[in-house]
Amino acid sequence: MSNLVIRDLTTRYDTVDVLHDVSLDVEAGKITCILGANGAGKTTLIRSILGLTPPRKGSLQWDGRELAGMKTHHIVASGISCIPEGRKVFPRMTVAENLALGAFLEKDEAVMQRRMDKVYEIFPRLGERMGQLAGTMSGGEQAMISIGRGLMAEPRLLVIDEPSLGLSPLYVKENFNVIKRINELGITVLLVEQNARQTLAISHYGYVLSQGRVVARGGARELSENDEVRSAYFG
Ligand SMILES: Nc1ncnc2c1ncn2[C@@H]1O[C@H](COP(=O)(O)OP(=O)(O)O)[C@@H](O)[C@H]1O
Ligand SMILES: [Mg+2]
Repeated sequence: MSNLVIRDLTTRYDTVDVLHDVSLDVEAGKITCILGANGAGKTTLIRSILGLTPPRKGSLQWDGRELAGMKTHHIVASGISCIPEGRKVFPRMTVAENLALGAFLEKDEAVMQRRMDKVYEIFPRLGERMGQLAGTMSGGEQAMISIGRGLMAEPRLLVIDEPSLGLSPLYVKENFNVIKRINELGITVLLVEQNARQTLAISHYGYVLSQGRVVARGGARELSENDEVRSAYFG
């Protein structure tokens, strides 16, 4: 199993650094979370991992291979899938078509179908509605579509950007349960969130990012008992 080892990552937009010497480990088989307020640099970290906003300095070792400098499609092909902030389904396409886009490089119909069936097993609701237009589904169901689409590539590492954002509490709970189950299937997860309580409840390890710097780190239990973390992120 592979892990992602990030060292001294510094990333900027234009001339302003927004990540400063970020170092963290995403251990194989585990759920690692990054907690941080709005603007802390969480999405930028994900963009750096995916090569969308390449780091200015530092290294990203995935499976012993350096990702810094690699093109995004090569990074994705190396087994990293991302579920973006705000879900972003294709509203005028069906559930099945949305899922198929997650594995568009796959030419073998049977393989495609097998992967889709696996997603329907995790999200029976999507199976019941495979022909429905994604734009007509609820926010929670759209969240399932976007997670399902991420799984279609059969990633070894799934990076999820703020899955609870804008969802009702019921769907948040359901979504976090699903993320836990996906991890139990053997997929390593990097979960980026503001919702500290529920995130730490399913995570193994966590980091707190503040203004582009790692300010706390530790086991999930340890972090959830940390007074500073509690007062800043538990509301
Ligand atoms: N495309 C961009 N161009 C310039 N600055 C950006 C851009 N995206 C984000 N930023 C800035 O980078 C900082 C971190 O943003 P972001 O990574 O989106 O934080 P988070 O995801 O934790 O809310 C913020 O100050 C934000 O204004
Ligand atoms: Mg963000």
